[in-house]
Amino acid sequence: MSESPVIVVKIGGSTLGSHDTTLEDIVALQREGWRPVVVHGGGATIGEWLDSLDTPTRFVRGLRVTDAESLRVVVAVLAGLINKELVAAIGALGGQTIGLSGADGGLIRVRQLDPELGYVGEIEWVDSDMLVRLFDAGYLPVVAPLGLLWKDQRLQSQILNINADTVAGEVAFALAARWLVFLTDVAGVSGSDGASLAHLSCQEATALIDQETVSGGMIPKVEACLRACEGGTRTAVIDGRQPHALLAAVQQGQFVGTTIGGSGEES
Ligand SMILES: Nc1ncnc2c1ncn2[C@@H]1O[C@H](COP(=O)(O)OP(=O)(O)OP(=O)(O)O)[C@@H](O)[C@H]1O
Ligand SMILES: [Mg+2]
Repeated sequence: MSESPVIVVKIGGSTLGSHDTTLEDIVALQREGWRPVVVHGGGATIGEWLDSLDTPTRFVRGLRVTDAESLRVVVAVLAGLINKELVAAIGALGGQTIGLSGADGGLIRVRQLDPELGYVGEIEWVDSDMLVRLFDAGYLPVVAPLGLLWKDQRLQSQILNINADTVAGEVAFALAARWLVFLTDVAGVSGSDGASLAHLSCQEATALIDQETVSGGMIPKVEACLRACEGGTRTAVIDGRQPHALLAAVQQGQFVGTTIGGSGEES
């Protein structure tokens, strides 16, 4: 029973509005004996809230700069609104789910990534045992990408914002997940000619980042895939706009998108 494969699914903010079939797919996977973890972003919604509060937003290498004022909005939107809407939607589809942020129970310990980025965390440690306990109790964890500052050998009260793609990669690594799947708003990772690529080796993926062919919000996704690959996890970036893209990928090996790492032949 505890050998059921783990699948980490990152739902992008850009696909959150049309998450209908993705959530159905996640519930279907749970019914079939998979142990899914959902990690969600919320960039678009956070941006709307920050705009409505006249708080300007800046990104550096695809990462949001978070000052104290922004952090309050980020926490409210990610751990509140988006997380609970997802929990409610998955529950209504018959999934048994529990929403939590990386701050809850000290699930994710972080240090400050870079003072230039403000209250943004770099992951130090993920409490994978806590996720396993939730699985064992029958729950599908839905994780909001926040963490607690780990300093002087203990947890501090400071909450930090973490890129959701990075959280998905570290969670997949910590759980030695079978799969890490990113659902996003493009047809996979594209190369220098703009065409989406079916498969990238680790070296090819790294080269695309170095050449800046992979940029912005795609950087942390590809980096997270590379991280998860280190632990033997299979990874893919797929088009979340396509109905049932997740089930097609995981069950039938039909990827509307890009697999990264591994041989590229296995499904
Ligand atoms: N080589 C590339 N191939 C495909 N997309 C790329 C590439 N380089 C940059 N991108 C950009 O990355 C974007 C996907 O990342 P983005 O952060 O916008 O979405 P998300 O992570 O799914 O959603 P969110 O950040 O709102 O949670 C694409 O829409 C595209 O503009
Ligand atoms: Mg993003």
